[in-house]
Amino acid sequence: MQANWTPESWKTKSASQAVAYPDPAHLQAVLRQIASLPPLVTSWEVEDLKGRLASAASGTAFLLQGGDCAESFDDCSSGNIADKLKILLQMSVILVHGTRKPVIRVGRIAGQYAKPRSAPIERRGDVELPSYRGDLVNRQAFTLEDRTPNPDLLLRGYERAALTLNFVRALAEHGFADLRHPENWDISFSAKSHRAEEYQALVESIRDSITFVEAVIGNEFAQLEKVEFFTSHEALSLEYESAQTRQVPRREGWYNLSTHLPWIGMRTAELDGAHVEYCRGIRNPVGIKVGPTMDTAWLLGLLERINPDNEPGRITLIHRMGAAQVEEKLPPMLEAVERAGAEVLWTSDPMHGNTETTADGIKTRRFDNIVRELELSFDLHRRVGTILGGVHLEMTGENVTECVGGSTGLAEADLHRDYRSRVDPRLNYEQALEVAMLIAGRLRRAARV
Ligand code: PEP
Ligand code: CO
Repeated sequence: MQANWTPESWKTKSASQAVAYPDPAHLQAVLRQIASLPPLVTSWEVEDLKGRLASAASGTAFLLQGGDCAESFDDCSSGNIADKLKILLQMSVILVHGTRKPVIRVGRIAGQYAKPRSAPIERRGDVELPSYRGDLVNRQAFTLEDRTPNPDLLLRGYERAALTLNFVRALAEHGFADLRHPENWDISFSAKSHRAEEYQALVESIRDSITFVEAVIGNEFAQLEKVEFFTSHEALSLEYESAQTRQVPRREGWYNLSTHLPWIGMRTAELDGAHVEYCRGIRNPVGIKVGPTMDTAWLLGLLERINPDNEPGRITLIHRMGAAQVEEKLPPMLEAVERAGAEVLWTSDPMHGNTETTADGIKTRRFDNIVRELELSFDLHRRVGTILGGVHLEMTGENVTECVGGSTGLAEADLHRDYRSRVDPRLNYEQALEVAMLIAGRLRRAARV
């Protein structure tokens, strides 16, 4: 147990991105209600994930974490949820093949409803209103009523998360067994790639492995086992998080039971800030985004504060330096953490350091920069002697047009066609599968040398 900590001790610290609710009594009433409702996840699932993350840190498993930048309440539909799970599952099959290791699947799902914003106010013409902060806080329409923070949305968020998770659990139980077979995937895009042969060979090889195993065990092995799946979101709204922070029978300490893996975003990672204070006291594994503005003293300070006992599996460091800066910024971080003997799982988020705005004012990311940051990250870890044990992606199971590039050659002019993200641009179904194929190909080649 961390000293001098309670689920509400964060209130004594300053919180970046704090929300000013106009009616504190209304907020308290909603939080009491959330606190009295059942948890979304259980402490044994949380501990199970922590153990798996420790394996990824030591190189015997690989973490695939991905999903929307911001989930919206309106997207809580069966098709959407199934598509998100489907792409993560298909990517994980490809990564199992590439890494020859168990792949831990973690969605940015069932709670990724709050967003940090660089500007608290949005101006349109002469009108100034609070920025949209995610469906957990306010609504997107540009009116004073919609943009005023509303505590009822915290309860709506909890309910949407519960509905999402209920369906995820049902699908994971049995409904997705056939997706382990690549003949059920849509990989027509790969024919257009200059790597078409490599992709085809990969898919053939996955198919052969499955056929071989099924012949040996005399069964459709895909149907024997349920799909393990975990949830994560940025622990941004400390009101929402602390209302779901509980003690459970026969275990020590406090658990955030709104999600398995909460993470601290770059904008709220101050050493002495409220988000770090909250996260230091919970028993969950905790993710920390590591960006180019962070230095080694800051990072080591975070590890000391959040994981003073150096518990394996507790910390996942998600670096997001950008393709242009990763070679300069990442190695000192890897070396400092290594020298300190800190137990961490390193993962790469190749999305958030590679966001740009087109001449038309559209936020996008280039597939080539995303892949470049990933490849450089694998190289840099190998050079320093540390392990890159996972990836963190913003992606969706649908064929949206938000990031440019990839085998289908999505161009800037295509971005208008189907741009749906409310905040950051995501890889679409084909781009996400292609990233998985590139990582798998690289890891297979590395294993052979
Ligand atoms: C995010 O993951 O959506 C995000 C805002 O990331 P970061 O904190 O790394 O900017
Ligand atoms: Co984002």
